[in-house]
Amino acid sequence: MVVDEVIDIGEIVAEYGLACHLEELDEVGLTVVDQDTLRLPDTWVDRLRDAILRVGEARANAKFELHKNPAKAFTGRPSEIGHMIFSHLIYEDPVFLEVLTHPVKKALMTHLLGVGHRVAVSDGWIKWQTPDAWPAEETTGFHADQSAVPAPWNWQLPHIANMNWTLTDYSRDDGALAYVPGSHRKERLPELGEALPLSVPVTAPKGSLVIFNGGLWHGSYRKTTPGLRVTMIGQHCRPYMLPFQDFKGRIPEQSIVASDDSAYLRSLLREDEVQLRTTAGLF
Ligand SMILES: [Fe+2]
Repeated sequence: MVVDEVIDIGEIVAEYGLACHLEELDEVGLTVVDQDTLRLPDTWVDRLRDAILRVGEARANAKFELHKNPAKAFTGRPSEIGHMIFSHLIYEDPVFLEVLTHPVKKALMTHLLGVGHRVAVSDGWIKWQTPDAWPAEETTGFHADQSAVPAPWNWQLPHIANMNWTLTDYSRDDGALAYVPGSHRKERLPELGEALPLSVPVTAPKGSLVIFNGGLWHGSYRKTTPGLRVTMIGQHCRPYMLPFQDFKGRIPEQSIVASDDSAYLRSLLREDEVQLRTTAGLF
């Protein structure tokens, strides 16, 4: 590791007052950072939200308006007709690179996954009122994101962690993320029906950042209100794991150099990885 890749999160933790969030990540497995602490203007939050809506409209060939359910009748599995996830957003707009290098996100993610972690997913999630035909209280079944960690690696040490940016208000009625506090210490996945009675909602205003441990049991509640829940999601992984979506070699160098934190972005994108190349080269 070269010296300039070493990240000392102590300064960021002190500057933004994040000590309580580190404690919450350790004890509860999830923390919510509000927009004031993040020091982000409304315009930035709106830009991220609108970029997701724009990509969603283009890919789904549908109109997404914040306070309405989409008029288009979507088809698919019953559990999927109340929401859509749009992947590989990094390629769609510079704001999806910017969201990766926010200092608070960097500090909390480094606390969970150590130096050299990678971005593993760049997705937008648009969810609307859960159709009456869906019978369950949860619309995303309870699971842990790091379910695929091979033995004998320790479950309690996160190998994966997730960031969720709430781009609309989050409450139980609005179909919020549901989680079981402390479940990252269980060292196993939940049994069918086990997690829902133990779960609590993430309650957070628009513009918040939710970070959680990959071992935490979570799902989401049905959305009982009309209109859209818009979220930017991004799992990250430790450097010995390959990202689910791999962006190495696919982001132009000028975009990396233009970043406020190009060293961190380069590391997130695996550009500092010299052994696993993206193309087969000559000997
Ligand atoms: Fe998940």
